[in-house]
Amino acid sequence: MSSEAGEIAAGTVAERFKELYGAEPDGVWAAPGRVNLIGEHTDYNDGFVMPFALPHTAVAAVSRRADGVLRLHSSDVEGGVVELDVDALEPESDRNWTAYPAGVVWALRAAGHEVTGADVHLTSTVPAGAGLSSSAALEVVIAFALNDLYELDLKGWQLARLCQRAENVYVGAPVGIMDQTASACCTAGHALFLDTRDLSQRQIPFDLAAEGMRLLVVDTQVKHEHSTGEYGKRRAGCEKGAALLGVDALRDVPYAELDAALARLGDEEEVRRLVRHVVTEDERVERVVALLESGETRAIGPVLTEGHASLRDDFRISCPELDLVVDTALSAGALGARMTGGGFGGSAIVLADVADVDTITKAVEEAFAAAGFTAPRVFEAVPSAGAAGGVRLGADWSALPAQRSRAGLTAVQFDVVAGDLDDDRPEQVGVAQLGCPARVNGSRSR
Ligand code: GLA
Repeated sequence: MSSEAGEIAAGTVAERFKELYGAEPDGVWAAPGRVNLIGEHTDYNDGFVMPFALPHTAVAAVSRRADGVLRLHSSDVEGGVVELDVDALEPESDRNWTAYPAGVVWALRAAGHEVTGADVHLTSTVPAGAGLSSSAALEVVIAFALNDLYELDLKGWQLARLCQRAENVYVGAPVGIMDQTASACCTAGHALFLDTRDLSQRQIPFDLAAEGMRLLVVDTQVKHEHSTGEYGKRRAGCEKGAALLGVDALRDVPYAELDAALARLGDEEEVRRLVRHVVTEDERVERVVALLESGETRAIGPVLTEGHASLRDDFRISCPELDLVVDTALSAGALGARMTGGGFGGSAIVLADVADVDTITKAVEEAFAAAGFTAPRVFEAVPSAGAAGGVRLGADWSALPAQRSRAGLTAVQFDVVAGDLDDDRPEQVGVAQLGCPARVNGSRSR
């Protein structure tokens, strides 16, 4: 099993930037990928999610420009520097990796922020197409860089919203807000309990190592693509369900009233399955939060496994490789397992006692070989820090570290209740005021 996140030295990225553009960058920023512990396909239903950041990051060396030119280069893809005119950026005009960083520039400008260009060189250790948010990491690292360089003073959750807009409108993928918020707002050693309706958040301590457990990520190597059909179809089906039930979003269907709601959907069998998944998944997130907060970490295992069954049977977005990981891991002694992320391939997560990790890993690898599947990539997921920036590499660098907190990792001692993108100051409320599963905002009966 590999535990390497493939650390990228900021100095190496800055050196390559200098080779490409002939000057040192103004700074180097980093933004991580994520795994989602529980709460899948709930974010575009205004529901609850619980991701944590991976140690795998996108790292970007960036300098500001004043002449309207955006130059983009990645060491991860073939090809040279791509040069764009910020005035000419057009939604859905670009089908390459450059759509993600260019989309962020477009979204910032569309929101009225005067971004007049940039030189960018980036590289990432977040596996692409593995359901681990490599695209969100690319977006968020650029958003953090431009936020600092243009002194925009936007908070992490605001940058996440802009990145989502970049992906929805510029890239053309109808994703929710989870991945961008995870990359921007997660903190080391915690999972992020996020209410996607208003972006209120709570950092939940999640230190499996201290309790003799591990969370494995199994990348099935089956690539997925959200901008094509199936993700959008599920989203449209959920919206149809909400409309038929007369609610703004499926999050508004109380778990206690699920059976009555399903009965009201009559012969809409497919919509009924989608609704059942979303409503039960929101309840599973609340259960996992309650278990973690009462120190019953091992007990989250069966809840994760229930979530997989719901995604497989009701939401129907699993695939044979993901099911094989889950079934094999459970037979080999895992405490729980589920697919994570958008589905149709990508990765599964496996919760296990440390003593069982090698047995489980071997069993999954053997099962894949026996089934004739491509060998999976297995690594341990350690809850890591969210985006950060302004890394100073040399004595002659300007005072970027002073700006580091501007984009803001969420203050751990507070729960942050965010507002609209235009709000300057999200309200902060003390931890003591919040108790799970009862919630301050938009509480739902169970
Ligand atoms: C993808 C999307 C997220 C979310 C998940 C499913 O990762 O980007 O917004 O919908 O799928 O939970």
